[in-house]
Amino acid sequence: MNLPKLAINTALLQPSELDRAIELLASGGIVGVPTETVYGLAADARNESAVQKIFAAKERPSSNPLIVHVASIDQALRFAAIEHDWIYACLQRFSPGPISFVLPYRGGLASSVTAGLSTVAVRIPQQATLSLILERSGLPLAAPSANRSGRPSATTWQAVHEDLAGRIDAIICDQPCQWGLESTVVDATTPCPIVLRAGAVTLAELQQVAPAATSQLADAAIGHRSPGTRFRHYQPRAKVLVRSQLAKDDLQLGETAAVICLQGFVPESCRDAFQVICSCETVEAYASKLFAFFREADSLNAEWIICQAISQQGLGAALMDRIQRAAATEPD
Ligand code: TXA
Ligand code: MG
Repeated sequence: MNLPKLAINTALLQPSELDRAIELLASGGIVGVPTETVYGLAADARNESAVQKIFAAKERPSSNPLIVHVASIDQALRFAAIEHDWIYACLQRFSPGPISFVLPYRGGLASSVTAGLSTVAVRIPQQATLSLILERSGLPLAAPSANRSGRPSATTWQAVHEDLAGRIDAIICDQPCQWGLESTVVDATTPCPIVLRAGAVTLAELQQVAPAATSQLADAAIGHRSPGTRFRHYQPRAKVLVRSQLAKDDLQLGETAAVICLQGFVPESCRDAFQVICSCETVEAYASKLFAFFREADSLNAEWIICQAISQQGLGAALMDRIQRAAATEPD
């Protein structure tokens, strides 16, 4: 792999400086862009050398393909095929939004985008700034999450800066991401949707549109249809513990532990026992704060992060998937 250049001057752009971001992207630069899920690291998906810069900046394995972001279904059809009616129904219901569809690849993109697969993942994002960039530029943008490979995804521009300053051309300094977890990835090469990565669009919501939708998150027998799920992911430096309730031993960790949970998980009498507690009102708030909290705990040099285990209903499936991966001690 090309060694990443560490000497790049990373421009910090305001959302209003869209034209500058578009110029950089159109001329082969790579830019940290906001989306409603997590920040992405974008490049023109047709430009091989630009896409290579993404892999180098992130130190990402070249066998892990990228999601291509587009403004419309018509734009996606230039390089991908839609072969089943349920896909149109789902696109109509959930796009633009936090969902990516793995479609048969027709060609026309830089070869490293698809990592040699016969499929390509496509997403129409909803975030206002990125939507404008896509519409005005007409570029298909390949964009993985804007973190160093293996680190928690970046949900703020500051987190993009922490991981990638000096390695990328610019960062758009927009609001924190709405969902805070990556998009739902759906295999759309089959007669019924198969969820390959849980996200904000839940299996139950997909089943409202396509009743036969299934999930293959935990089906090891099928192998890994989504290459990225092979890699160790989302890991802070602190060790992650997953708890349905606090145990006595957890209290002994005291000042070396950070806790993220729903309200009521830490009894009032134990509130001073930990270094920092992020107590969330809702599962949505828990999800949106998780990755930023991992980074905060690392900046405080916490040795442990205790995450409350919650029900895998709805958004809980995606949240628990990320927490369990962060807690895994061995690559799967
Ligand atoms: O929310 C998101 O999806 C964010 C924003 C920036 O759009 N992007 C993101 O990209 O999370 P990344 O590269 O961190 O994760 C993409 C996942 C990886 O697990 C990758 O293996 C999978 O999608 N993927 C990409 N192309 C695929 C394909 N053709 N077939 C199966 N899985 C694919
Ligand atoms: Mg990622």
